[in-house]
Amino acid sequence: MVYNTPTSVVTIDRFIIEQERLHPEATGELSGILYDLALAAKIISSKVRRAGLVDILGSAEAENVQGEMQQKLDVFANETIVKALDHGGRLCAMASEEVPDIIPIPDGFRCGKYCLLFDPLDGSSNIDVNVPVGTVFSVVRKITRGARGELEDMLQPGRRQVAAGYVIYGSSTMLVYTTGQGVHGFTLDPSIGEFLLSHPNIRIPDPGRYLSVNDSYEQHWDEPVKALMRRYRGLDGERKAMSVRYVGSLVADFHRNLLGGGIFCYPANVKSPQGKLRLLYEANPLAFVVEQAGGAATDGTRRILDIHPTELHQRIPLYVGSKSDVDTASAMLGGEKLTGVGA
Ligand code: AHG
Ligand code: MN
Ligand code: MN
Repeated sequence: MVYNTPTSVVTIDRFIIEQERLHPEATGELSGILYDLALAAKIISSKVRRAGLVDILGSAEAENVQGEMQQKLDVFANETIVKALDHGGRLCAMASEEVPDIIPIPDGFRCGKYCLLFDPLDGSSNIDVNVPVGTVFSVVRKITRGARGELEDMLQPGRRQVAAGYVIYGSSTMLVYTTGQGVHGFTLDPSIGEFLLSHPNIRIPDPGRYLSVNDSYEQHWDEPVKALMRRYRGLDGERKAMSVRYVGSLVADFHRNLLGGGIFCYPANVKSPQGKLRLLYEANPLAFVVEQAGGAATDGTRRILDIHPTELHQRIPLYVGSKSDVDTASAMLGGEKLTGVGA
């Protein structure tokens, strides 16, 4: 299917249907999940765009399972996604960064064959200062017996994902996702309330231009990580210096690097020995997207999508972006050479 956007208007609904038709065995359940996520994204976007005018800024005066102070928009985004998807009969359970345990489908609603894992609002620290934030999502098939989803359904390696993507609430609101058939970006036209195909078949430039890392932790990194960052900065004479861009919202940093080429690094450090980002609903979905765009993702020693999760909210060091830059990380941190699916 070739689209000559932005001249031809291709809504996300049309695109999803046309992608579904490529799979005769498709039941339409996965398409339904994507429709519902697009609706939730529009609702969250509408709130984010008016943050500061409606009572949605600031802290919700509650801590989440991560021990982080929940922002009102964290809670709103979480509730919006749960309510948009809990009754459609396509999911058997959900898991959210903001909820300690898995979220069951309410009694009275039919259970489906998929699980949704999500970070309802990524970059919460940026909400009150009007810096882009996002939503990240991952879909896997149910693998346990019985109708209701279980923790085991959530703890699958990222290579088992059937869909993954993110929404960035930036200068425009974009939804970017993959179902294993490439990566496609849709921009919300608020004047008609539709996500329109604006970035078909995204491929990540390689090598990358941008380095995204919070180097205030440099004193807590081990020597190989320090050497790696010197390499990216062109300080060891092995490569041209990369431009450092760090927003503090993973989705915003990832999206810029996906379109412009680059690498996002969140190494382990003394403060966070397993890194800060969560495997199931941050690293895995973005690793699936980046591999489908020709990039790669590692924790420094293993391909992210091959890691077997053990806990719902487990953290993982993350190096994700242009393949040659991620391979440099693997080489210097003692990891395996990556042969990402989308390469
Ligand atoms: P979340 O708001 O969902 O908790 O995610 C915040 C994450 C991620 O978005 C960002 O890249 C990272 O925290 C920034 O961490 P530091 O402030 O430690 O750099
Ligand atoms: Mn996050
Ligand atoms: Mn979050």
